[in-house]
Amino acid sequence: MASTSPATTTDAATARLIDIAAAVGTPCYVYDADAVRAAYGVLDQAFGGYPHAIHYAMKANSALALVRLLHGLGGHADANSLGEVDVALRCGFAPDQIVFTGVGKSAAEIDRAVALGLLAINVESPGELDRIDQRAVAQGTIARVALRVNPDIDARSHPHISTGLRSSKFGVPIDEAPALFREMASRRGLTPVGAHVHIGSQITTLDPLIRAAEAVVALAHALRDEGIDLQHLDMGGGLGISYDGGPVVNPADYVRALVAAASGSGLKIAIEPGRVLVGPAGVLLTRVVDVKQFAGAKRFIVVDAGMTELMRPALYNAYHRIDPLLPRDGAAEPVDVVGPICESTDAYARDRRLLPVEVDDLLAVRDVGAYGAAMAHTYLRRPLAPEVLIDGGEWRVIRRRQTLDELLALEE
Ligand SMILES: Cc1ncc(COP(=O)(O)O)c(C=O)c1O
Repeated sequence: MASTSPATTTDAATARLIDIAAAVGTPCYVYDADAVRAAYGVLDQAFGGYPHAIHYAMKANSALALVRLLHGLGGHADANSLGEVDVALRCGFAPDQIVFTGVGKSAAEIDRAVALGLLAINVESPGELDRIDQRAVAQGTIARVALRVNPDIDARSHPHISTGLRSSKFGVPIDEAPALFREMASRRGLTPVGAHVHIGSQITTLDPLIRAAEAVVALAHALRDEGIDLQHLDMGGGLGISYDGGPVVNPADYVRALVAAASGSGLKIAIEPGRVLVGPAGVLLTRVVDVKQFAGAKRFIVVDAGMTELMRPALYNAYHRIDPLLPRDGAAEPVDVVGPICESTDAYARDRRLLPVEVDDLLAVRDVGAYGAAMAHTYLRRPLAPEVLIDGGEWRVIRRRQTLDELLALEE
């Protein structure tokens, strides 16, 4: 097939991405620090004077440079494992700026979380309540705990990222919460400081988020009537972003609705946003390694990134925009953009209309700042891809490409 020449004029942002790909190779992730700052600022300012803390959900992306950036903006941290607790500490967060969530905290995790004196350990079950109390008593200390309640609210997101239904493994049914709070208040090693709710991720309508918030506010009022005074309401994360241009909740409207729901209580609001802070700030650069099409069959664009670098399409059938960086002349045509991994689910897009591309062309997969690099893995012995941060008109590598020697270094 005759090749067409790529466009020769590019905007500055595209030119920079092309430079980065040339310098660090592909696949690679590129993040924009200003986009993170802007997203944080929108949430922060929407609280007005209302007492609040924005606990960045590191699970979305715990690259040290990004976590430090969010620390520098005045954020707090939400950790979902001991590893993430450590990342937060290394990035400058004090223990009393960190909340620790996790549906199956190990004994080692509980021990360390108690020893550190975190702002809150979000308790997931009566058994865990017991274990935290025991460890705190053994250490001669009192652990600050919040109870993660499950309000039985449908987040109307993808079922794999919905967590607030009674059938899900997360938290305790909200009707059982008062008894568990009483129990926590009675324990020598515990002091209940908050109520926590998180009903899912990539939520694109306000209603379920607000209903969940109202449920914890009502719980806090009921507890106050019993003499149990909380210090904060942790409304979790979950705010969705527009991967495909479809409607999403305006982040400032979300915050204002939370404040409206909670203001009667006077309690501090904590939120745990991840995706909305870093998702749109990241692109994944990948290069076309093959184009194949047989008579009567689909046209496949095979790229050098796959489910190892971005799991979301394979996990949730998630949509990510894909743009050729230097589009060639011609009409868009339906193609499958697939990765190099030997799994049929390793596809970024199916039957997507894409402008013509050829081998060696660069593509930008958009909105990968959240749950991209954080979920990367090394299947097929593929070393982890590098990460680059653009900041103040400059870019730098914040994580270099893993070498095969490093990948194998743990083995016999
Ligand atoms: C407990 C908890 N908090 C916060 C988040 C962050 O969610 P998101 O990235 O959708 O804002 C998650 C992710 O699902 C979570 O499990």
